[in-house]
Amino acid sequence: MKGIKFDFTNMFYPNIEKGIKYEDINGYKNKMEKIISEILEEEPGFVKLLKNTKYLDKILDIQEWIQSFDNFVVLGIGGSALGNIALQTTLNPLNYNNMNNRKTPKIFIVDNVDPDFVASVLDQIDPHTTLFNVISKSGTTAEAMSNYLIARGIIESYGLDPKKHLIFTTDPENGILRKIAKEEGIETLEIPPEVGGRFSVLTPVGLLSALAGGIDVIDLLNGAKSMLEKVSNKNIYENPAALNALLHFLYYKNGYNISVMMPYSNKLFLLADWYRQLWAESLGKKYNINGEVVNVGQTPVKALGATDQHSQVQLYNEGPDDKIITLIKLEKFERDIKIPKVHEEYSALSYLGGKTLSELLNTELFGTEYALTEHGKPNMKIIFPEINAFNVGQFFFVYEFQTAIMGKLLEIDAYDQPGVELGKKVTYALMGREGYEEFAKEVKEKVEKKEKFIL
Ligand code: PA5
Repeated sequence: MKGIKFDFTNMFYPNIEKGIKYEDINGYKNKMEKIISEILEEEPGFVKLLKNTKYLDKILDIQEWIQSFDNFVVLGIGGSALGNIALQTTLNPLNYNNMNNRKTPKIFIVDNVDPDFVASVLDQIDPHTTLFNVISKSGTTAEAMSNYLIARGIIESYGLDPKKHLIFTTDPENGILRKIAKEEGIETLEIPPEVGGRFSVLTPVGLLSALAGGIDVIDLLNGAKSMLEKVSNKNIYENPAALNALLHFLYYKNGYNISVMMPYSNKLFLLADWYRQLWAESLGKKYNINGEVVNVGQTPVKALGATDQHSQVQLYNEGPDDKIITLIKLEKFERDIKIPKVHEEYSALSYLGGKTLSELLNTELFGTEYALTEHGKPNMKIIFPEINAFNVGQFFFVYEFQTAIMGKLLEIDAYDQPGVELGKKVTYALMGREGYEEFAKEVKEKVEKKEKFIL
């Protein structure tokens, strides 16, 4: 069977004493069928885009140009960066930027305004041979826009032509980036208006930097399409997105407020970072679709195996019954290292000699899985037979679909993010953005009036 697999064995009773029972799942059969049908009918943007080749065609048209640079720098944040980061770390070698035999540009993804971080990237690039890809759907995000201004300032200070060193990925009609692009003839790519940031990895948002880095974007999309077929199945026991969403929902109702994703692979680790945003921003909501206050959401946490066995697993095994743990197993690593048979005189070391690191890592995964189950903690496993673009495309899509289903189960809007607006507004106001003067005053007064407690 091609593609990723899902092992739900340790999510169910009696393997887990407080586990979900098949009869609990069966009680939701009709509801789940309805939810799957509804999503397929509504065709949210992240589903619809798989049927439209125009986004792919456009980036393939400019492939030669974008790969002719030495450096490709993404300037974006949140949904306009996390997918890009996950794609690069997962599908390119971990030392990609330092490889001498690289045939494609170095890729940098600047997703913060920490000056030490931004400066460290700028130190590594020569603006003459750099393409900056500014990604912002709204064109208003302070972080992406300030980094754009910095890049633009550098381009201008070197006397370079902005048209030759900038490409914008933004809304087809609206926003300041679109306006500047129109005025100046800067190359742009469209983000489909109906696709929200965290669902946009398979749009030009994620695809362009992936292509720049030599990733097989066609296979990536093929993986997503094959997963669409799988998750369109109305039989919940054959649909990984539906079963996983329902299991997470039922556990959530039983007080399991935390969803840990723990890949046993450094290359797959940042998929968990992408998932963290998707699950948090889509499902953490104050109001339900009827406008009632519900304050729902399951906190996503990322952990790395085996590293975090020495940091988190004590808590996962013996702490409160509030976590579901999704382990990610990689069956075939791209590279392997055999542990040499030295120190055979010491039994504390000799058992490792002759084994491979992949064998050790996957045995550790088995150990964690076994221990979690023995401690009665629900855990499941996603199995990557190998890391390739097809499997990663499947992973992205199954989680997007699962998030949409979970949104319906929680009866919230999974596609908005009103909870991030207030913080953004405060930043605009305090940084002096026009139109926010009154609000800036209000914020300052409120903070001033507070009784302080600073040690
Ligand atoms: O998922 C989301 O909608 C957000 O994380 C956005 O992607 C993020 O805030 C960046 O927004 P924009 O692309 O408009 O700059």
